Amino acid sequence: MNFSLKIWRQDGSQGRFEDYEVSDVSADSSFLEMLDQLNDQLTESGGDPVAFDSDCREGVCGTCCLVINGRPHGGRGGTTCQLYMRHFADGETITIEPWRATAFPVVRDLVVDRSAFDRIIQSGGYITVHSGPKPEPNTMPIEPEVAEEALDAASCIGCGACVAACPNGAAMLFTAAKISHLGLLPQGQPERMERVRSMVEKMEDEGFGPCRNYGECEAACPKDISIKFIGRMNRDYLRATMVEPYDRRGKMKPQ
Ligand code: SF4
Ligand code: FES
Repeated sequence: MNFSLKIWRQDGSQGRFEDYEVSDVSADSSFLEMLDQLNDQLTESGGDPVAFDSDCREGVCGTCCLVINGRPHGGRGGTTCQLYMRHFADGETITIEPWRATAFPVVRDLVVDRSAFDRIIQSGGYITVHSGPKPEPNTMPIEPEVAEEALDAASCIGCGACVAACPNGAAMLFTAAKISHLGLLPQGQPERMERVRSMVEKMEDEGFGPCRNYGECEAACPKDISIKFIGRMNRDYLRATMVEPYDRRGKMKPQ
């Protein structure tokens, strides 16, 4: 298969699209393997290879952040590394861009800085763990429905497609998933109110935009994270800030 590529190149504050041709691509190549092929071609001809991020290449790590033909991850329900060239037409022109969001500045070409997500996690994405012997698991029974819901939220890989898809560059889906997967479980209760307050406030400090219920985040998410978690996060945030103020240890003050 042969493709024409329009790729965003950036080294510094200004960027531009550049055109490339790549030929003899196997239909079974992944999208990232096609870019590897292009980079081999560029290197052999003395050109500058295109910078892009990847790590696991199996849909787990969330680093392969590309907007393909205007859709984060190509819009086919998985990550960029799980996208195959057979999904494109032979001879097609494919446009490739980095995530576009104020809170994800471009580092180079298609690589963006997603460390704002790490700082949101650092602000509250943890639970209290006592040192000492491991407790017997059956002393803390968890209903299967609750465990399933927590696991659904925990499947967020932190890729940032939700932010890239949102017209406001909001990180509500990511933050809600991270808050919910801890807040649904008994182990996450001690810091539940403190967690939601500090993570939501950190999200706003990092420059992510507000949610306007467009739903583009859910549509772009490669892990099918539901926007119902945003509603859950908003309810907890209201409770933490208006209804049930808590002390520094996350303990509810008596009413
Ligand atoms: S909610 Fe979905 S799109 Fe957003 S970071 Fe998590 S996995 Fe990626
Ligand atoms: S490279 Fe890890 S999810 Fe794509």
